[in-house]
Amino acid sequence: MIETMVVRHGEYGIDAPAVPATFVGLGAAALVPAVTGYPVRALRPLWVALAALLGGSAASYLYATRSGKFAAWADVLDELGLRGDERVLDMGCGRGAVLLAAARRLGDGGQAVGVDLWRSVDQSGNAEATTLANARAEGVADRVELRTADMTDLPFPDGSFDLVLSSLAIHNIPTPEGRAAAISEAVRVLRPGGRLAVADIQHTSAYAERLRGLGLEPQVRDLGPRFWFGGPWVRTSLVTATRPG
Ligand SMILES: C[S@@+](CC[C@H](N)C(=O)[O-])C[C@H]1O[C@@H](n2cnc3c(N)ncnc32)[C@H](O)[C@@H]1O
Repeated sequence: MIETMVVRHGEYGIDAPAVPATFVGLGAAALVPAVTGYPVRALRPLWVALAALLGGSAASYLYATRSGKFAAWADVLDELGLRGDERVLDMGCGRGAVLLAAARRLGDGGQAVGVDLWRSVDQSGNAEATTLANARAEGVADRVELRTADMTDLPFPDGSFDLVLSSLAIHNIPTPEGRAAAISEAVRVLRPGGRLAVADIQHTSAYAERLRGLGLEPQVRDLGPRFWFGGPWVRTSLVTATRPG
């Protein structure tokens, strides 16, 4: 079953909300000397450029988090060509942007499982109850399960998923060892022949390296301007791989 989540009925918040708030605050502060020329009139063009840069960064970030990432993930999920009966895991599902888009592509027998620690510093309004409400709003609550767990130590048996997804989540783990553990856990819970798709703004080369170390042959690609968080200097890459059968 292929269905692109064009219209969203849930509320998905803002990723790392302190970041766009900082862009907006600094941009507003730069507007004062940009408009007035105070205190050094000759520097006014620099303040104008800075205010424009910060305003543009805020716009890019808010577009990515509110709209662009949904469109980019819809394409990724369509490319994965789900049959509809898969068991899918989303590591760091947050309010369900990717989890529920995957669930919309499942039918009878399919299940989408989301794991998270519900950290509101990483996504505004992050809470299990919010994700559950979104699952109901999207009409997929019957095939969605949520678990509170750390993705570096997943509470699932080996080989229990057909597809493991993760979006903008693994970089939140502060240590390289922790991020490597999350990738190892993703592979452990995949069945032989199962697939992995991880999108992130940092460390994707390290994820690919870890996957190679585990015997997979990952591919990494850029997800384009829809997934820029503030500008081309914070791009999102997608790592995909298949667990050898
Ligand atoms: C930026 S949000 C992205 C949420 C969602 N994947 C999306 O794209 O909308 C990152 C998520 O990772 C979760 N997270 C961070 N560290 C985690 C960990 N060690 N285990 C599970 N979830 C974690 C946060 O709670 C948050 O929900």
